[in-house]
This record gives sequence, structure tokens and C-alpha cells, in this order.
Amino acid sequence: MNQFNKTINRLGTYCTQWDFVKDRFGKDDVLPFTISDMDISTSPEILLALQKRVDHGIFGYTRWNHPDFKNAIISWYQKRFDCPIQDSWIAYTPSVIYGIVKVLSVYNPQKKPICFITPCYDGFMKILSSNDYPTKTVHQSLDNGVYNLDWNELETALSQSKVFLLCNPNNPNGYVWSVEDLTKIIELCKKHKVIIVSDDIHMDFVYKPALFTPIIKVAQKMDYLDNVVIITSSAKTFNLSSLGGAYIICPNITKLAEYVYLLGNKDSLSSAPALFITSLITGYTQSEAWTDELIEYCHQNLIFVKEYLEKHLPTLSVTIPEGTYFAWVDCSKLGIPMSEIQDKLLNIGKVAIMDGDRYEESAPFLRMIIACPRSKVEDGLKRLVKSLL
Ligand SMILES: Cc1ncc(COP(=O)(O)O)c(C=O)c1O
Repeated sequence: MNQFNKTINRLGTYCTQWDFVKDRFGKDDVLPFTISDMDISTSPEILLALQKRVDHGIFGYTRWNHPDFKNAIISWYQKRFDCPIQDSWIAYTPSVIYGIVKVLSVYNPQKKPICFITPCYDGFMKILSSNDYPTKTVHQSLDNGVYNLDWNELETALSQSKVFLLCNPNNPNGYVWSVEDLTKIIELCKKHKVIIVSDDIHMDFVYKPALFTPIIKVAQKMDYLDNVVIITSSAKTFNLSSLGGAYIICPNITKLAEYVYLLGNKDSLSSAPALFITSLITGYTQSEAWTDELIEYCHQNLIFVKEYLEKHLPTLSVTIPEGTYFAWVDCSKLGIPMSEIQDKLLNIGKVAIMDGDRYEESAPFLRMIIACPRSKVEDGLKRLVKSLL
């Protein structure tokens, strides 16, 4: 049996996905495809390492600033993305979102506008509005399988901004920014003196022939390294979000030192969770084969969703994304408003799937997580079809 087909009951673990689905959808008795985590166990290598670490029994203060942590990240970037990075560019952050907030405060203390592409991760809006940043957004539409972005509009928005907040691959539509895209982005940001902060948390979920390119790899060739920061994590890849921990890659050493000062001195958060350190090092040094199998499984799930809907409910359409574990389902041909779609999903099919509106998408789209056993994907699709047929 494929290891990812195994169903694991998550109820009773205080997990947001299953135990707290009512908070988002007002109902308990619904099959959840909501928050972005997996109903899949972490890798066997990480499980074993965590068990050994737990057996040790002492979980006192832990450091991240050592070669084992940094070399694990360096080797992952080399193996997976053919991207050399230096140990002096790396720092721990308690979470990707914390890292983004702090890096923005380092680079943009005057709170000038932040530019980003929509549809986008809902956390972006939350942190930018609650930290009082003005925003400039440019929409990327997905029309009949083609992603459209108006680069002139992006240039205008960038010319009025201090920072470009990129999400690569993009949550929720799965767009993977190509080398050509990244080159254009850097050219525009260089022209208008804009700092690039790239949230690469979904970087490992990219499906061939698409290729993930860390923006620093392109920036290196364009003499723009000092103005580019990556904030990312091993949490999505290995399903470790509740252990905490993420990391920053910032080639501008002066700015990185400012960030580390905020982390350690102002916020007193420099001791990293022990189980995070253990899991990152183990995953990045021992779980490459497991990761490859997981990516293939997610890709097959996406193909399954597309083929299932083509057969059973062709008014909905899915473009297989180049990246992420989300099916971004276009419901516009149904001709009914999203409120009605959601009502039917919750009350007829009893299934909870995120509304595209949450990600600043005005067309009726659903974002369905497919990083789960195939049987759950199939159950969810049956409920979806029953609701909307
Ligand atoms: C694009 C993106 N960035 C950041 C996060 C959250 O990361 P963290 O929990 O490390 O702050 C998520 C979680 O879904 C995400 O999709």
C-alpha cells in the first residue's frame, strides 16, 4: 500500500483542520479541506529522530546558530534547487509570518506601501493591515487555464511601493514564478528601488516540468542580492507546523543583523524549539526520497481531482497548478454566487472548502487542499458533486 494512502484520525489532537472546523464554517459535521496542512504523517526518518529526541526527556533552551542547522538548509538548497547559499545569510524565525513582519520593519520603517499579487495568502492582508502598511495590489487572473498578469500595472504599483511581497509558489492559485518572471520582477524592482521579500513556504511542492527557482539565485546574477530576502520553512514539506520554527535567507548581512537583534533582544525569541531543530535537520538531510514520493502523490491527487470533475461535474474546472497542494477550482460557469455555493457545500454535501474570496479573488473559486489520502479527496469530490449537481 502507498504510505500516503493511510488514513490517520486527527480528531482529538486539537488540530485546526478537524477539531476546530466549526470556527471557520459554523458546523462540526463537515469534511474539512480548510487550513493548509496535510492529513499525512511526517517522514519516517523525522518520526524516528523526534522519538529519540523525546526519549531524551530534556527540552531546555536550544540554539539555532550552529553548522548542523545551517548546513542542513544549505544542502537542501543545493540538492533541490541547485542554489548555493552562504551560512552567514541564514537566521531562524519562529514562523514565516513573524519573519515577514520583522523583515518589513527592518527594511521599511517608514511604512511605505507594500506591493503584492492577488489572489494571495490571507495572512498577508492580516499582517499588513494590522501593522498599518498601505498596500498596492495587482491581480493575476486564471482564465481557461491561462494565468494573466498585467506587467505594466505591476510596474506602476511597484513604482509607488517600498517592498514587493512575493509568494512563490503562489498560495492559492499554485502559480510558480519562472526564471523569466523573476528576472522581470528584479528588473522592475531595481528600476524603482524596491526590496523583494519572497515567501517560499510552498517551494517543495512543484510539479515537473515546472521548476522552483529561489529568487536569490536570479538576484545573484543580476547584482541585486542585497535587496532580496527569502522567508521559508520546512513545515509545509514535512507537515510540522505545530512544532514552530522557520528560517530567513538574507544576503544583506547588515539587515540580517538588524533582524537578529529584533528577534533576540527586542522580542527575546532566539531559543528555537528543540523538536523543530531536530526535524529540520533530519528532514533536509535524510528525507529527500520521501519528499519526492510525497510530491508525486500530491501531483496524482491533483490529476485525480481534474479528471473526476471533468467526468462528474464539468461545469467546474481545475487547471493543474505547477505548484502547491491546492486545487484552485473555478466555479464561474455555475452562474451562482459563492454564498449559495458555500451554503450547498455545507448543508447538502457537508464539506468545508475554502472560499476564494478569502484570498482576494472576486471570481467564484474554491481552494481545496489535496495533501491527504486519495480516499479523502474522493470523498470530498463526491460531496462537492452531490452539492452542486
Ligand atoms: C504562503 C504562506 N505563508 C506563510 C504561511 C504561514 O507560515 P507560518 O505558520 O510559518 O507563519 C502559510 C500557511 O499556510 C502560507 O500558505
